[in-house]
Amino acid sequence: MKKKMNLVNATKKSGIGKAHSKIILMGEHSVVYGHPAIALPLKNIEVTCEITPAKKPLQFNSESPLATAIFASLKYLEIENHPISYRIESRVPKRRGMGSSAAVSIAAIRAVFDYFEEDLDKDTLEMLANQAEIIAHTNPSGLDAKTCLSDTAIKFIRNVGFSEFKLDLAAFLVIADTGIHGHTREAVEKVEQQEEKALSLLHQLGHYTRQAEQAIFDKNRQTLGRLMSDSHKTLVQLGVSCPESDHLVAVSLAHGALGAKMSGGGLGGCIIALVATEEKANQIATKLREEGAVKTWIENLSL
Ligand code: PMV
Repeated sequence: MKKKMNLVNATKKSGIGKAHSKIILMGEHSVVYGHPAIALPLKNIEVTCEITPAKKPLQFNSESPLATAIFASLKYLEIENHPISYRIESRVPKRRGMGSSAAVSIAAIRAVFDYFEEDLDKDTLEMLANQAEIIAHTNPSGLDAKTCLSDTAIKFIRNVGFSEFKLDLAAFLVIADTGIHGHTREAVEKVEQQEEKALSLLHQLGHYTRQAEQAIFDKNRQTLGRLMSDSHKTLVQLGVSCPESDHLVAVSLAHGALGAKMSGGGLGGCIIALVATEEKANQIATKLREEGAVKTWIENLSL
């Protein structure tokens, strides 16, 4: 429900909002066609937005999820022309499938509401974040915003809903950045253009994701690893991987990962590798950096 702002509140020196990033474990691309996807929040890789007073109102740029999120928040509060400026501090690399645009939007919305000392409930936050994502056309399925708003792993089915679940596997996830911008929109279009030729591959990806959900439930990291590698092969066939991702996936497997795949829209971006121990995860991360990854992160999946 829309709420008229009490401008007496707009006297704070600055407003702060934070949001975390995300990574898709299984189900990218097939999620656009109604199959499930599994995504994980990366709670230690965060964006912070600070809102401060300004002399002039912000210019609205519909290409920028950040500006769109701020504008949508001001509009919701019915103070579109209130002069503010913003500053973003991000540890989430842009366009790598880590939900940078959704995280930035969520942090910005939280910062605007903090600046004006307005309450922000979960539904309003998600609605505004999705408005920004949809206007900036970055994420057709809505998966990014959902995972960046969640504190637990989620299973997401487009237009149906999502369920949160606890991921408790004795394993580690190594995330490696190829250093190349992912091209989600182009990759989604590439799949779309293949029409019915893509259907069996998308179906296969959906099948792997459902099996992966069961493997997570059974705490069977071997099976999950195998399904991740099988998914990668299918994503390669779909034409959405790239040589750099394929190389890093091969390096991970050659050095003992239980499975590895590209993650997110593809044509660049990140790869993920499932690894049994922290020691092995550190070894593989080092190897991946030697072999071209510009950055690596390690997530403990038993938390
Ligand atoms: O590149 P990312 O992490 O935003 O993921 C895109 C995932 C797709 O399934 C390719 C598209 C979508 O909207 O889900």
